[in-house]
Amino acid sequence: SPSALTDQLGRPLRDLRLSVTDRCNLRCTYCMPKDVFGPDFAFLPRNELLSFEELERLTRLFVAAGVQKLRLTGGEPLLRQGLPELIRRLHAIAGVQDIAMTTNGLLLPRYAAELKAAGLRRVTVSLDSLDPEVFGQMNGLGMHPDRVMDGIEAALQAGLPVKVNTVVQRGVNDAHLGELWRALKDRAVLRFIEFMDVGNHNGWNLEQVVPPAEVLARLGGDLTPVEAQYRGEVAARYRDAQGHEAGLITSVSRPFCGDCTRARLSAVGVLYTCLFAGSGLDLRAPLRDGQSDDQLSRLLAECWQARRDRYSEERGAATSAHHKVEMSHIGG
Ligand code: GTP
Ligand code: 5AD
Ligand code: SF4
Ligand code: SF4
Repeated sequence: SPSALTDQLGRPLRDLRLSVTDRCNLRCTYCMPKDVFGPDFAFLPRNELLSFEELERLTRLFVAAGVQKLRLTGGEPLLRQGLPELIRRLHAIAGVQDIAMTTNGLLLPRYAAELKAAGLRRVTVSLDSLDPEVFGQMNGLGMHPDRVMDGIEAALQAGLPVKVNTVVQRGVNDAHLGELWRALKDRAVLRFIEFMDVGNHNGWNLEQVVPPAEVLARLGGDLTPVEAQYRGEVAARYRDAQGHEAGLITSVSRPFCGDCTRARLSAVGVLYTCLFAGSGLDLRAPLRDGQSDDQLSRLLAECWQARRDRYSEERGAATSAHHKVEMSHIGG
């Protein structure tokens, strides 16, 4: 039964996003720009990462505290060795209702079937444009969109439903949204995400954020709003006359902090209660110090109960200057 754990604003803890690596095989300009995350960048050493045993144990405690949905993130989660084994372990935890993964899709042709068999229920694949020039520039490495499309096909073949995440940046990929929508709407739910001021290096500015009406117009203008499926749903959902679904994630122009039920655990076991947090609660030290389940549960409960984060609602000169956790540490 769902626990009554709530934060200072009355929000329950329902979702846990587990980052399993800070590495990625792309260098998206809005997430891991290659001039910062270059050849000399010091990624986390292997022994710093939570082991699968540690991830499984902490996840059990989060589930006992109310978590129902899990999402694996990175960096790129498929770069973590043996990921299907982790999914098998998480899938076996009673009370877990949903396991999803956010991925760039490049390794899905290799792993999709194994992931599905392990208990993964669905995937969200990041793809910003089908224009090779535009996508190559945005992913920082000239990667061709066909490689991501291969991953999407592999997921569908394996029986994994697909959502596609598209970060919209004015003057970069906004002219190509209609093309993406027409090519993918039969196979995936598309989600258009406002460019956000995550991390400290992505050169964010408000002029590059494209408001929802403009995105809808780019998709052809025949979309009508759909009721939210659950409290705290991040995307505002729309359907066209044929029933194809698009979601708009308006974290800048219309923030949704009031219903935010998401906790994020970094690959080294730091618990963040907001995507834009400057710091979090280290759970790895007490875990490796031999603290009991009860002690660890108390720590995470205290952290959630003290939570007052509503960064996107407060966004402004005063808040956007503070040092924030990197996207590659908490996976979006
Ligand atoms: P489902 O509805 O379960 O499919 O998942 P979701 O809506 O949480 O989707 P997903 O995790 O793919 O989120 C999509 C994107 O929305 C993320 O990659 C982030 O960029 C953004 N996002 C998700 N959660 C938050 C949040 O709590 N705050 C903000 N500001 N942005 C978020
Ligand atoms: N703004 C909006 N969305 C972002 N993502 C990463 N960085 C940003 C940003 N600056 C999203 C990507 C990816 C997910 C991991 O997070 O769409 O799907
Ligand atoms: Fe990698 Fe995803 Fe970040 Fe792009 S958005 S650099 S694919 S983690
Ligand atoms: Fe939740 Fe922070 Fe995003 Fe608001 S800004 S929705 S509190 S993660």
